[in-house]
Amino acid sequence: MNLHLKETVALHNNVRMPQFGLGVFQVEDGAKLIQAVKTAIAHGYRSIDTAAIYGNERGVGQALREALTEYQLAREDLFVTSKVWNADLGYEATLAAYGASLEKLGLDYLDLYLIHWPVEGKYKEAWRALETLYKAGRVKAIGVSNFQIHHLEDLLQDAEIKPMVNQVELHPYLAQQELREYCQSQGIQIEAWSPLMQGRLLDHPVLLDIAATHGKSVAQVILRWDLQHGIVTIPKSVKMQRITENADVFDFHLSAEEMARIDALNRDERVGPDPDNFDF
Ligand SMILES: NC(=O)c1ccc[n+]([C@@H]2O[C@H](COP(=O)([O-])OP(=O)(O)OC[C@H]3O[C@@H](n4cnc5c(N)ncnc54)[C@H](OP(=O)(O)O)[C@@H]3O)[C@@H](O)[C@H]2O)c1
Repeated sequence: MNLHLKETVALHNNVRMPQFGLGVFQVEDGAKLIQAVKTAIAHGYRSIDTAAIYGNERGVGQALREALTEYQLAREDLFVTSKVWNADLGYEATLAAYGASLEKLGLDYLDLYLIHWPVEGKYKEAWRALETLYKAGRVKAIGVSNFQIHHLEDLLQDAEIKPMVNQVELHPYLAQQELREYCQSQGIQIEAWSPLMQGRLLDHPVLLDIAATHGKSVAQVILRWDLQHGIVTIPKSVKMQRITENADVFDFHLSAEEMARIDALNRDERVGPDPDNFDF
């Protein structure tokens, strides 16, 4: 059991969010998913990131229920995130989508609910719905995903409540320096999706070199880089050994020089869609 996985950052509304969690994108609903989520929780993970579009909220919910009983946890010990999909962006549609996610997960609240993508002309109405849910105490924190600075500036013109989190693609090839600085100045917590660039950075020579210095894996070095930058990170794995390995990042420290070497790898290169040019 890795107790460091309970370490949290404070969101601007003082809700505490674990800095390290498990992502479950591209994990089909079913036994493998349930096993991965339970393995993670047994190991000390407290934060699980899903989304309506992943189609696995029912399985995540079942895993959470089983874990609560088997590992004697309380609901408040866990931090559960889901996201409203693009087709449901609208005031009433988003309220309904939140209800549907809760029903599938078998929960009566989420810790964090995000607008999945900044669909032009739609995200403001969806944000009004998230504000309604938040003000009614139905969700602990609300945020956005894949928002660039200009999306946030636009949203903030009308928002009553500032997003607490912006979850974006972020890894050494897409360091998001400018967006990170903007979010920090606004009190918006940055969260990294595809922190491992879906496995594409694992043989990078600079990362291999730093990893060898510390007797760690490249995945661990990247995830440590996230932590030292104050970024919330949610690597995905369905393999027990990797779920454990990924979280074993609290017993070493990257020097300022090593951090700078990793920062210098940035190429503004994405593995996922560009938020300014997506069509779904
Ligand atoms: N908001 C959004 O638009 C958005 C978009 C994408 C993702 N996300 C969230 O972010 C989470 C993470 O992103 P991601 O799933 O795209 O990618 P990721 O976490 O960067 O990488 C996951 C991939 O790396 C492999 N892997 C994990 N740990 C490893 C290790 N220690 N050594 C070697 N390979 C390893 C996994 O395979 P195995 O499972 O086989 O181990 C999987 O193929 C998602 O699950 C999802 O929750 C959000």
